[in-house]
Amino acid sequence: MGDLHLHFQSMLKSPEQLHDRVWKNHEERVQKNCAKLITDEDTFVLVGDHSWGRNLSECDQDLEYICALPGRKILTRGNHDMFWDAKKTAQLNERYQPRLTFLQDSFATYQDYALVGTKGFTFEGPFYIDSRGRIVGWDEEAEEHAKKLVSRELERLRKSFELAKADGYRKYVMFLHYPPTNILEERSGFTDMAEEYGAEQVIYAHCHGECRFHDSILGEYRGRMYRLVSGDYLKWKPVRVLE
Ligand SMILES: [Fe+2]
Ligand SMILES: [Fe+2]
Repeated sequence: MGDLHLHFQSMLKSPEQLHDRVWKNHEERVQKNCAKLITDEDTFVLVGDHSWGRNLSECDQDLEYICALPGRKILTRGNHDMFWDAKKTAQLNERYQPRLTFLQDSFATYQDYALVGTKGFTFEGPFYIDSRGRIVGWDEEAEEHAKKLVSRELERLRKSFELAKADGYRKYVMFLHYPPTNILEERSGFTDMAEEYGAEQVIYAHCHGECRFHDSILGEYRGRMYRLVSGDYLKWKPVRVLE
């Protein structure tokens, strides 16, 4: 599951989280569903946007809440995780081990699978639409900037795959925070990399609200399973990825 967007100590910054019913008491619903569906022998991957906190001290309680959920918790970065500087991942791991694992430029394992991943990135506009709501153009400067971020994230993802491969792993589940494609694309560097290494599944989040749930690939596509796992999409029920 992704996108818990916890805010025990920090300001809520999303209007939909304030007003949309699906977010009401979501912390309690996550706890309840996790207690029902996850045991301490399970591995629970949380794919980013953990907290609204602007720094680590504003996230203490949010991360403690995650620590208290059942299972072995593996966290990847989301776009809102200001507390997590990618270059300081080692410090986070030191601070929270063995209760949480922060995955960045590395991989985790589950049985004979390598769990690989990175935050990812997709171009999100601005798009220009006509009176019928069709996309007729987009901000090209923003698109150029997005390309740079995508290529940096692809490098990080490749590193994750290569480390796993060097350790002898041949079965992969790939985790992203952003969807694997933007709304204009059918495939991307991320779907290509999933195919190159033979990842069986691509798990992503970030899409909130009915109108965003179909922004990218869902279900079987070119031999892989794509799953959206943002918490509000799942109605806060973690989804089983591997038996
Ligand atoms: Fe989010
Ligand atoms: Fe996000």
